[in-house]
Amino acid sequence: MKNKLNELEPKSWLKFQKSWFIHNPPPRKKGVLRHPAKFPETMAQEFIEFFTKPGQTVLDPMAGTGSTLVAALRAGRNSYGIELNPHYAEIARQVIREEQALLAEKLAGEGQESADLTGGSCQGGVVSFRPDNSLVARIITGDAAKAVEFGIPKVEYVLTSPPYWDMLHAKGAENQKKRREGEQLDVVYSDDPHDLGNIHDYEAFLEMLVTVYVGLKPLLAEKAYLTIIVKNVKKGGKIYPLAWDIARELGKVYTLKDEKIWCQDNQPLAPFGLGSAWVSNTFHHYCLQFRNE
Ligand SMILES: C[S@@+](CC[C@H](N)C(=O)[O-])C[C@H]1O[C@@H](n2cnc3c(N)ncnc32)[C@H](O)[C@@H]1O
Repeated sequence: MKNKLNELEPKSWLKFQKSWFIHNPPPRKKGVLRHPAKFPETMAQEFIEFFTKPGQTVLDPMAGTGSTLVAALRAGRNSYGIELNPHYAEIARQVIREEQALLAEKLAGEGQESADLTGGSCQGGVVSFRPDNSLVARIITGDAAKAVEFGIPKVEYVLTSPPYWDMLHAKGAENQKKRREGEQLDVVYSDDPHDLGNIHDYEAFLEMLVTVYVGLKPLLAEKAYLTIIVKNVKKGGKIYPLAWDIARELGKVYTLKDEKIWCQDNQPLAPFGLGSAWVSNTFHHYCLQFRNE
């Protein structure tokens, strides 16, 4: 059987098909700590290896500190990222340079033109490709709403995570308190009015976010997948179902295929609402799968 989507062997393919997974992010490197919310490269690599083949191209329109691009390099895929905040864009370029240097070292260490790399695949499969420095990994400082203006070629996959509405502005959030008390750690992404995390009206935020994703359509190859990693948002004692709203609204333009639930199992529990009300400790994210068809 010809595998048109990726290069996984059947066992790894099957494993990825489970609709939930536990992935506990490894501790973050110092350089990327400044950013308030990144996803782990190890997890991003699993998605990239499922939804693309080596040599294809991945886009993250809100790239933060470049996790998607680092994962793409490790997986032997080309990648483009757009990031509004110039400081994060610069951190992303730095981590990409470091990753390229590591890969170059690995290749030199091998010394054999024909040898395969294991690629550090999280799915346990040995990946037969050679990640090398000829791969594109480009970070563009700019507004994702203008994605079509940046000369990005057609891409086979989008992997991204948006600001979770304006939640970083919430004063009470446990994590935020720790960041405020820490050193030089950002509490919000920026004060740029184009930063989606600064739109305080939920409906306006949702509309703008969906417009940005719809605006990527001219860049997407036919049948390209998009994975959007997002959470429902708790604010003022109620839930704003951001993940479900994105699924419904974006599903009008791309085909909504599925969800995969990312569970974190290494977070400390907090006694929210103890003795008076139900308030969950929410340790899961939705990885929403869409397809351009
Ligand atoms: C959840 S973070 C992404 C983190 C990223 N996945 C990582 O692992 O580093 C969302 C990012 O979107 C960026 N952002 C917000 N509005 C944007 C816009 N209009 N264009 C591009 N980036 C934007 C923020 O600066 C922030 O870095």
